[in-house]
Amino acid sequence: MRFTVDFLVVGSGIAGLSFALKVAPYGKVCILTKGDASEGSTRYAQGGIAAVMYDSDSFDKHIQDTLVAGDGICDREVVEMTIREAPDRIRELVQYGVNFDLDKHGDRFDLHREGGHSEFRILHHKDNTGEEIERGLLEAARRHPNIEIKERQFAIDIITQHHLGQRVTKHTPDIECYGVYALDCDTNRIDTYLSKVTLLATGGMGNVYSTTTTPIISTGDGVAMVHRARGVLSDLEFMQFHPTSLYNPAEKPAFLITEAMRGAGAILKDFDGHEFMQKYDSRLSLAPRDIVARAIDNEMKLSGKEHLYLDARGIGKKHLIEGFPTIYAKCLSIGIDITKDMIPIRPAAHYQCGGIKVDRNGESSIHHLYAAGECSCTGLHGGNRLASNSLLEAVVYAHNAAQSAIAAIGGITTNNAVPDWNAEGMVLNEEMVLITQTKRELQEIMWNYVGIVRSDLRLQRAFDRLNLIFRETEDLYNRSVLTEPLSELRNLIACAYLIIKMARARRQNVGLHYSLDLVEK
Ligand code: FAD
Ligand code: SIN
Repeated sequence: MRFTVDFLVVGSGIAGLSFALKVAPYGKVCILTKGDASEGSTRYAQGGIAAVMYDSDSFDKHIQDTLVAGDGICDREVVEMTIREAPDRIRELVQYGVNFDLDKHGDRFDLHREGGHSEFRILHHKDNTGEEIERGLLEAARRHPNIEIKERQFAIDIITQHHLGQRVTKHTPDIECYGVYALDCDTNRIDTYLSKVTLLATGGMGNVYSTTTTPIISTGDGVAMVHRARGVLSDLEFMQFHPTSLYNPAEKPAFLITEAMRGAGAILKDFDGHEFMQKYDSRLSLAPRDIVARAIDNEMKLSGKEHLYLDARGIGKKHLIEGFPTIYAKCLSIGIDITKDMIPIRPAAHYQCGGIKVDRNGESSIHHLYAAGECSCTGLHGGNRLASNSLLEAVVYAHNAAQSAIAAIGGITTNNAVPDWNAEGMVLNEEMVLITQTKRELQEIMWNYVGIVRSDLRLQRAFDRLNLIFRETEDLYNRSVLTEPLSELRNLIACAYLIIKMARARRQNVGLHYSLDLVEK
């Protein structure tokens, strides 16, 4: 089937929903989302959203903290713009119906602190901030008459001149986006969505790795689509590993233990109950994430242990139960009482700092194609994202992209010459086990060779092994009916390839990219 809309949004997390709400007064909006609308990283966000709301803090301090965490390679103008816009975007979230916790007097936001922040500036809703943001935005979007949300619609590819039979390379100067092809996961039909403006808000790619805090939908689809469409991508070597995911090996995704717990006083310890961060950084357990994750990784390798501990007992029973109810209940469900026991933790792939390269308006190198949220690369994070700057970046760039798209849409016409998806020549689907097994292999390769600590040899090994998987999967793709798992696998392979390629090209240790063969920046 063919559908024509003004604004097409792929993804229903904080970025997609914020953009949709802003453009909705100016045209027909369709949101495609591959699972249930509420499923995505947004709803699992715990810590909160960083913003300078009161005079006790300052924009300059938040800017400085972001630049320091980014290890000197953030885009300073982008950092300044994002942080100065933050209070306005927070007020809009509140207007959409999102609730943040207030302090005991009830007239100011209660603020948390996380690693790398010099001040308490994290707005939160208990320890389930993302769930509250997703609820508020989704309810607002569902109320809007111009917004249609279509669940279980899997965007496969961006439509460009390539689909009109023209040769498109990365040197083609004016690649244009006319919409997307999307698989209806209920009927297995591939539909054509034509749009004047398209926003990719497809989230992260944590599932490139075997241990990740990200939900199963985070398979880098947007990045892979832009890669296939020959758009510009950047900074994918900077995969952020969160230092403290709950060590519960059978559980996928790994459950997060928020950094706000360290902000409240929890301390990293080894098996003997000794602190160890003093060996690595004067900021101890509250050093930026790249440093803490590497320290834990090193301690685990030295001791041969599969995890270390976070000791939250000093925070006190009342504060723990009231301030971190989700974590308290989760740990209790597997026999850990965090008011009495230390919490077993280990690092997990958490956030992709790189992605689809966008300008300050959120526009990609492909005309009429915008990107916002985790799938984009704005320059805010540099080599390492500061905690709780991700939700902030998503709302700031959804806003900027919306303003730019609203201004541009009057001059854009729908391209009706686009053909429907060609499914000719495809035979029955291959065994599912081939796909799941290959995905597992890929995740192990990336975890073992392209993880927190890298080397030239490890990257070469990963590349060689990935090459084999790539060829086998392309062969499968050419013979099979397209399904969501197969499409996701191809996307994960594309993302893994891009991470390795960019990691090999980065010849200095900076931020999250750390190789045994390279010198410090
Ligand atoms: P998501 O919320 O991940 O949404 C992606 C959407 O795209 C989904 O709706 C998905 O279905 C859809 N989609 C993807 N591919 C396709 C496709 N092919 N076709 C159709 N739809 C598709 N950041 C902070 O700033 N503060 C925090 O406290 C914080 N805590 C976190 C805790 C956890 C456990 C995790 C995993 C992340 C956390 N982050 C946090 C990071 C932050 O939550 C994410 O970066 C952010 O929510 C991403 O929002 P998004 O809108 O870009 O993507
Ligand atoms: C956390 O709560 O520790 C996650 C915050 C983030 O990813 O920014």
